[in-house]
Amino acid sequence: MTSLPDGYQALVIGGSGAIGAAFAAQLQADPRCGRVLALHRHSQPAVDYDRADNLAAAAEALRSQAPWHLVIVATGMLHGAAVAPEKRLAELKLAALETVFRTNTFGPALLLGLVAPLLDRQRSLLAVLSAKVGSIGDNRLGGWYAYRASKAALNMIVKTASIELQRTHPGAVLVALHPGTVRSGLSRPFRGDQIGRDPAQAAAQMLQALDALGPDDSGSFVAYDGQRLPW
Ligand SMILES: NC(=O)c1ccc[n+]([C@@H]2O[C@H](COP(=O)([O-])OP(=O)(O)OC[C@H]3O[C@@H](n4cnc5c(N)ncnc54)[C@H](OP(=O)(O)O)[C@@H]3O)[C@@H](O)[C@H]2O)c1
Repeated sequence: MTSLPDGYQALVIGGSGAIGAAFAAQLQADPRCGRVLALHRHSQPAVDYDRADNLAAAAEALRSQAPWHLVIVATGMLHGAAVAPEKRLAELKLAALETVFRTNTFGPALLLGLVAPLLDRQRSLLAVLSAKVGSIGDNRLGGWYAYRASKAALNMIVKTASIELQRTHPGAVLVALHPGTVRSGLSRPFRGDQIGRDPAQAAAQMLQALDALGPDDSGSFVAYDGQRLPW
């Protein structure tokens, strides 16, 4: 990450996931990176969106190590124990909608509120992993109601926060980032292993794309190859 200062500090939230772990490994291998902290549901401190109490403890630990130059939020869910992407309106269930929105939208939104003030004011990058299927303009196939809507709402949170951040942290860049299809537990039931890329390759591409972004790019929806996506 040549655009960040030597000895830059990086934070990965969701470091237990396929993409999050790949990000953390690549940043650890970057000699210019001074510190990589990868947090997840079982780390110390923990980041678990199902337990609102632990976000405050994580925030306290992050505050003591600020400023952060690179923050990647790599959490998210598409399916789970009682959650399956819906093909039809008739399949919508309140409990599943709540779970997906808590994980993909509410948790990352609260986390942004805690982490954004800790960004370096001169030069910093904050990327929240979203998904192209969360694009309203690009939705041609339908289906996957909860996942699509939770990512569209996440995109609005990112866009809105970028406007607020511009005033306090003019050197910060906040984007919604689409990783492309990547082999992971999240994509596996949807042919992810067949059509997805290796997480290490995806993380390398995304770091390269992020490195090229400047403050004017803040508030964008960016794909892994640097292309802009429609909201
Ligand atoms: N893979 C793809 O093809 C693809 C495509 C487009 C977008 N994305 C996005 O990329 C991101 C990473 O996905 P991935 O493929 O790496 O999936 P993954 O391997 O399943 O990783 C998901 C991560 O989110 C964490 N997580 C899930 N629920 C959580 C909760 N309630 N609180 C805190 N953390 C929670 C998981 O923690 P645990 O390890 O504890 O479960 C894990 O660290 C997601 O936002 C996803 O929507 C992925």
